[in-house]
Amino acid sequence: MSDHAATLAQAQERVQACETIDDLKDAEREYLGKEGVVAEFLAQIPSLANEERPAAGREANRLKQSVVESVEQRRQQLAEAQIAAERSGEGFDATLPPPRTQRGSLHPLTQVTRELEDLFQSMGYTVLDGPEVELDYYNFEALNIPANHPARDSHDTFFCEGDGHLVMRTHTSPSQIRAMESLEPPFRVVAPGKCFRQEATDASHDHTFHQMEGLVVDRDISVAHLVSAMKTLLRGIFQRDLEIRLRPGYFPFVEPGFELDARCPFCEDGCRVCKKTTWIELLPCGLVHPNVLRAGGLDTEQWSGFAFGLGLSRLVMLRHDINDIRHLLASDLRFLEQF
Ligand code: FA5
Repeated sequence: MSDHAATLAQAQERVQACETIDDLKDAEREYLGKEGVVAEFLAQIPSLANEERPAAGREANRLKQSVVESVEQRRQQLAEAQIAAERSGEGFDATLPPPRTQRGSLHPLTQVTRELEDLFQSMGYTVLDGPEVELDYYNFEALNIPANHPARDSHDTFFCEGDGHLVMRTHTSPSQIRAMESLEPPFRVVAPGKCFRQEATDASHDHTFHQMEGLVVDRDISVAHLVSAMKTLLRGIFQRDLEIRLRPGYFPFVEPGFELDARCPFCEDGCRVCKKTTWIELLPCGLVHPNVLRAGGLDTEQWSGFAFGLGLSRLVMLRHDINDIRHLLASDLRFLEQF
């Protein structure tokens, strides 16, 4: 038997004896790899006499081709055997724990927003969206905050490049005007979303935060309607009835305007959350100012309304006992994985 024939017989025996794909790969490397047996044959050719070289080349290539074929054939057999074993249930252990998968979760702000949207929708409210880059007109002017009005000072505004008419909205209240322009009264809407203020940040102030605006327009709306809606809102958030109180609050777009406080849901006689006062400041609200109704194109003889501006970011902090608002938008997985 020639060297080639003997080598081929050995190779076929080696390949046929492989029981796993990994073993087959090793065999393939031994015979067909860069330093394998076939490569050795090819390397000897240049040292042969000129007339012997063509035949030696042909022999070596034939050997190579035969080994490739037997490797492929064995690979096919092993793959078929594996499929057959899987189908028969052999090697399948139903008691093994499933592979660990990484599950994502909703951001706590998204969770609270969705819960509140559900709550308000169950009370007949429509959920609206509004632009984050807003016209000065909607953010201020139409909300009874004309240019040079001192109330603009409390909204440290990011102005967009250009002629100064575009701002990053400083609150969700512009959606009040947009709602009046697009809906036929009577209506009830909530509009959650991001707001931006050029403020020095601290544990309870961020430059980007979330609010949820609420607006109800109907005939003969009074503070009693506002109080009742706010109580329902708090029951939805804290799952129980909380005592509330209204303090006067000034916002040019409501009259009268209030700051609504709720009895601290976490203590009876003062704690860190309520700063030992037993009250937590929760949301500004009030009856819609007639100038705002007019700016929205509504007849103030017929229509009246109440509005509120819930600080969603602060609410999430309260619910999860988060001590720094800046965690919310920092995209740190160590923080987010807790929810
Ligand atoms: C407003 O933005 C009014 N548009 C709210 C309103 C709506 C009043 C409708 C009356 C009727 P104010 O600036 O107080 O009001 O902000 C409302 C809430 O947003 C605050 O109570 C607070 O919870 C939250 N907030 C304000 N600034 C920040 C900030 N920098 N970081 C985080 N939350 C903030």
